[in-house]
Amino acid sequence: MGKMLKGFGLPKILGFLFKGKKREKQIRQAPEIVKPASPTNLKAKALHPKGLLGTVKEATLRQGILFVTFDVPNFPYFRAGQYLTISFQEGQAIYSRPISILSSPKQAAQGQVYVAIKTNEQGEFSRLASTHLTPGATISLSAPSGDFYYSPNRDQKQVIACIGGVGATPIVSMAGAILEGSENFSLTIIYGAKSIDEAVFLPLFMEYQSRDPRIRIRFLDESKGRRFTKEVILEEADGQEFSLFVCGPQGMYHAFDGIAKELGLDRKHYRRELFGGIKDPAYFPDYPGAKQPSFHAKIFMVDQVYEVEIPANRPLLASLESLGIASPHRCRGGICGACRGHILAGEVYIPNFEDGRRLSDKEKGYAHLCMTFPLSDLEIEIPAS
Ligand code: FES
Repeated sequence: MGKMLKGFGLPKILGFLFKGKKREKQIRQAPEIVKPASPTNLKAKALHPKGLLGTVKEATLRQGILFVTFDVPNFPYFRAGQYLTISFQEGQAIYSRPISILSSPKQAAQGQVYVAIKTNEQGEFSRLASTHLTPGATISLSAPSGDFYYSPNRDQKQVIACIGGVGATPIVSMAGAILEGSENFSLTIIYGAKSIDEAVFLPLFMEYQSRDPRIRIRFLDESKGRRFTKEVILEEADGQEFSLFVCGPQGMYHAFDGIAKELGLDRKHYRRELFGGIKDPAYFPDYPGAKQPSFHAKIFMVDQVYEVEIPANRPLLASLESLGIASPHRCRGGICGACRGHILAGEVYIPNFEDGRRLSDKEKGYAHLCMTFPLSDLEIEIPAS
C-alpha cells in the first residue's frame, strides 16, 4: 500500500477545500498589493536561474580560439565540467551553442566567467562569434547545465580524462576546482593533439601538475603516431579503478565507445562531453539518406503556424533557428530534452548513437530537434522559446 503523507490525510484535504465562509472572508480581507517574493524564493531563483545576461568584459583571439570573459552578476553555483549555452542574433537568425565553462567554480563566483570558442571550425556560430562577442556586448546565456562533472557517489576516486584540442576546457575547470578545494579527486589528463603548439592548455596543466600531486598530465603527440588506446589508458590507471571522461571533437567519441567497451567500463564510469550539434547526418552509419535536398515543414508553435523549407542535412533545431523560429534548447547534443518537439506527420532520422529520448517520448512521437533530420515533408509542434 502507498505511504500516506503524515498530517495530510483525506480529512485534512477536505477541510482545506471546504473551509467555506471563513475562507471567503479571509480572501475579501486580503490586501490588493502582492507581497514581494520571500528571500528564500529569491535565493532559489538566483541559484537556479533559467537564463542569464552576461556582458563581455574581454575577448582575445589566439591560435584560432576566442577567449571571452563575461561579467555575470550573481553567477549561480555550478559543477566544474558544466556548460553554458551562448546565444546571439544576426538579422532574423538565431545562433547558439553550448560552450564549456573554463573558470573554476570559485573564479566564476567572483565574477570571472571564462569560455574558449574555436573560431575556425565548421558552423555559423564559430564564424560569427568574434563579431558578436566583443567588449561591452550583452549576450544571452543559459544557466550552467550538463552532467559532465565529477560525482563522488557515481565516480571512482580516480578520473582519467582523455581530451582532444579545445575540448580541454571542462577539464581545465575541473583541475582548477581541485586546486582551489571545490573538488577532491585524482585527475589524470591524457592530452592528444597534432602538435605541441596545438595543445593550447598544456602549459597550464603542467603548472597545475607542479602544484598538486592529484593532477597529472601526459601529452600524446599525434604527429609522432601516438594514439589513444586501451593500453595507454591502462598504463596511466596503474592498476587503480577509474572513471573515464572524454571530451573533444565528435569523431573521438566513436573511437572511445569502442575503447570503453574493451576496457569493460560500466556506463556510469564512462562519460563524454557534448560538443555542439551534428554537422552532417551522413557521418552516422545508420543514416538512410534523404530522397530530396530539402523538405516542406509546417510548424505549429503555440498560436502561430509557419510554413518553411528545411534542408535535409541539417538538424531541425538549427534550420528553424536560421529562419528566426526560436525553440527552447540547451545541450544541442540530444540529451537534455529542452528542444523536444512533437512530430505530428512525416518521417525523420534520429541517429541511434545520439538518441537520448525517454522511452515514452519515443512511443508518442516526440523528438529532440537538435538531433533530428527530416526524411520527408513534416508537421511539427514545438514549444515557444
Ligand atoms: S537541446 Fe538538449 S536535447 Fe536538444
